[in-house]
Amino acid sequence: MLMSSSRIQIISDDITRLPVDAIVNAANRSLLGGGGVDGAIHRAAGPELLAECRALGGCEIGQAKLTHGYRLPARYVIHTVGPVWQGGDRGEPELLVSCYHHSLRLAAERGIRTIAFPAISCGVYGYPLEAAAHIAVREVRNFLASDDQIGMVYLVGFSRDVCQVYEQALQKM
Ligand code: APR
Repeated sequence: MLMSSSRIQIISDDITRLPVDAIVNAANRSLLGGGGVDGAIHRAAGPELLAECRALGGCEIGQAKLTHGYRLPARYVIHTVGPVWQGGDRGEPELLVSCYHHSLRLAAERGIRTIAFPAISCGVYGYPLEAAAHIAVREVRNFLASDDQIGMVYLVGFSRDVCQVYEQALQKM
């Protein structure tokens, strides 16, 4: 089994452009689209994505659901709902951990080998970036340490400063 950290890559890109098996969407509980990365994914995937999402009946915070990617280069979209930051003592860390865990578990179950995550909850939902990056890196490493199905996890920063925070979190691990 490859070392878990060698199966994590940090990249600065638009997640809708990545030709990976699955990209993760930072969605809301309705799964009916929104702004941020959710809006970008729905715009790039086209209307069939919304049609499939409608049939899913929503998603609870910390959970994850899978759809096809349609016009995206990615084959699948894993929709997960991150916590809204409320100061950190309302279960936000545990819910963010759950987003990464359930998204990875769903990917492994479906034979997905390459998966890309945006910085879940770090935009509209206001999660502090350093704390969220630490959770992302730790949870991905923990999952990969006991899984050999997934070959590569990309942590996607939409800007250089986000990537730098991810790099620091990875070095600290
Ligand atoms: N590619 C990669 N990352 C992106 C992209 C993109 N195309 N667009 C935005 N991001 C980044 C943001 O810069 C941020 O770092 O994704 C991270 C998550 O930000 P949001 O998209 O705002 O997601 P989140 O904070 O989880 O809020 C979710 O916003 O769009 C609505 O419907 C969504 O209600 C939900 C809420």
